[in-house]
Amino acid sequence: MAEYDLVVKNGTVATADDTFHADIAIRDGRIVALLDDVPAGAAREVLDATGKLVLPGGIEGHCHIGEPPFGGAELADDFESASIVAACGGTTTIIPFAGQQEGKTLREAVDWCHERARGKSVLDYGFHLMIADPTPQVLGQELPALIEDGYTSFKVFMTYEGMKLEDMQILDVVETAQEHGGFVMIHCENDHCITWLAERLERAGDTSPARFGIAHGEVAEREATHRAISLSEVAQTPVFIVHVSSHQAMDQIAWARSRGLPIYGETCPQYLFLSSEDFARPGWEGAKYICSPPPRDPGNADHLWRGIQNGVFQMVSSDHCAYRMEGPGGRKEAAGELHFHKVSPGLPGIENRLPLLFSEGVMTGRIDLQTFVAMTATNAAKLYGLHPRKGTIAVGSDADLVLWDPEKTVTLTHAMLHDRCDYTPYEGHTFRGWPVTTVSRGEILWHEGEVRARPGRGAFLPRGLSSAVRRQAA
Ligand code: URP
Ligand code: ZN
Ligand code: ZN
Repeated sequence: MAEYDLVVKNGTVATADDTFHADIAIRDGRIVALLDDVPAGAAREVLDATGKLVLPGGIEGHCHIGEPPFGGAELADDFESASIVAACGGTTTIIPFAGQQEGKTLREAVDWCHERARGKSVLDYGFHLMIADPTPQVLGQELPALIEDGYTSFKVFMTYEGMKLEDMQILDVVETAQEHGGFVMIHCENDHCITWLAERLERAGDTSPARFGIAHGEVAEREATHRAISLSEVAQTPVFIVHVSSHQAMDQIAWARSRGLPIYGETCPQYLFLSSEDFARPGWEGAKYICSPPPRDPGNADHLWRGIQNGVFQMVSSDHCAYRMEGPGGRKEAAGELHFHKVSPGLPGIENRLPLLFSEGVMTGRIDLQTFVAMTATNAAKLYGLHPRKGTIAVGSDADLVLWDPEKTVTLTHAMLHDRCDYTPYEGHTFRGWPVTTVSRGEILWHEGEVRARPGRGAFLPRGLSSAVRRQAA
């Protein structure tokens, strides 16, 4: 009988620390050896990775899958299609959100999401919680019990009707996180500024998609980011700033980190590759680019790249939130009219996250391979309590790998993608480098254009403490 189930041979392996040549031997879904040369016949199956990079599979720490309608439109993908889409883009773990609905418990939200993922997801998955109603019952009983059960991170919002929390409530959530080992993620936009600006634009009858960027201006994001940092400092608890879009907000994080505060942050491809010029396109074309916070002026992206290079950001996540434009449940029908605040906010992007960052980061020399791996996999594994099982290539880790062809050039059309959306914001973009094979726990899910994934094979991942929380406690 063969010693190994699968061997990935002749590849160049890259982790967040190192690049080296090794054959990767896999048994029972785990990496069991890294060897110079595994003899032919020692494995049931061999993947030849000659000329390829072998990287830890991506960990998507920010995606919206299977959530109830948000702002009217319905998400295009369910757990089956979204996880296949992710796998085709080189991702092997997804952590979507279980969002508390008004008047309902967090446990109900979690059960609802499990129901949607079970039997469908091809990838391993965890859930962040979203806390909309931090009652004494939620903070005193539900949240501690859910942290214990492996839901160790949770998002709160400073804006959105029905979701936004006041500062006192956020402090209560942060305090609960401190007492029970949770990791708080914050959506930072000043709700009063947004509402005030939106009402002024409405009074002027100026509601085209481009005005989304005015209502959700940089100042609103900068102020809220600074406030979130202050709340973290007051409660002496780490905080993660999600989907940072502007260099002004980024500068707040840089300032906090330079003072030694435990503030962490992510940015997203839409802030690196899109700009305010995209949602200024005429009519419904512009509406395709509405997301919150919005892409900023051209020139902003250069600052964000510097934040990736110098460690202000720990993750580049997609914030995948894919709505169709057309048809039932699509953005047009749900909005009823072309109005910047009636169009459900969110962009598709899980399949392009790694290819965009590789092509425009690694292949241009903006970042090295180690930073790429850290930003797409290892840091998410650490900050979301999955390391070293996920996010690295090491003996004992799950065999979650992506084989990357750095020579492959792809000019994107939406038809090439695997989602149920009806557009990609990156239509016509030419990528240098592409994920050609994705392996999850030793199973090949995606190989040279063929989807082999079996729906329902993905397992729920109860997560441990965030590295940020452990560092703070030490
Ligand atoms: O526009 C966005 N980002 N939609 C998803 C919801 C969120 O705030 O992450
Ligand atoms: Zn958000
Ligand atoms: Zn989001």
